[in-house]
Amino acid sequence: MTEILAKATRAPSAINMQPWRFLVIDSPEGKEKLAQLASFNQTQVLTSSAVIAVFYDANNIEYMDEIFSKAVELGYMPQEVKELQLQQARPYYASLTPAALRDINMLDSGLVSMQLMLVARAHGYDTNPMAGYDKDRIAEVFQLDKERFQPVMLLSIGKASKQGYPSYRLPVDTITTWA
Ligand SMILES: Cc1cc2nc3c(=O)[nH]c(=O)nc-3n(C[C@H](O)[C@H](O)[C@H](O)COP(=O)(O)O)c2cc1C
Repeated sequence: MTEILAKATRAPSAINMQPWRFLVIDSPEGKEKLAQLASFNQTQVLTSSAVIAVFYDANNIEYMDEIFSKAVELGYMPQEVKELQLQQARPYYASLTPAALRDINMLDSGLVSMQLMLVARAHGYDTNPMAGYDKDRIAEVFQLDKERFQPVMLLSIGKASKQGYPSYRLPVDTITTWA
């Protein structure tokens, strides 16, 4: 699980801010608690090996210095580039409305979620993304700061016991415009 999570977080994010946070629910007690919040998704919650609840951290800006300083320390980024980027990013982030910041964080967290599903598949596991759960209560039920940890989606993970159903996709012609 740690390896899958680490590989998933190679996903891109706006100015590499990595706002995603994971709650891995793999104990029977944790699954029971989650099942009460996910009435439409009982099978996935109760029969999977684990459910990963994806959140974003609304106070993620606290990690901005660590992210850029570590990049310099590890030789990934020259000090001047760090300073230039922070000079632009700090006031930009501070100026964002809560709604605009939420859009960015949800976008980044969607990318990590998809990457997590692809990495899981590469490791031989199946997943199911789920939005059908009580987003208003999940943080407090698992003793997380509700204001800080904003729910994105659930991902059940395990080895499928049955073949999944095929699903239709709109043709590329319908969904694409060429210019
Ligand atoms: C944001 C999101 C929320 C979803 N919520 C649920 C859910 O609550 N329960 C469920 O069984 N599947 C859920 N799904 C899975 C979709 O129903 C599924 O991806 C879609 O029907 C296409 O099927 P496929 O992924 O098997 O090709 C969700 C998928 C996404 C991306």
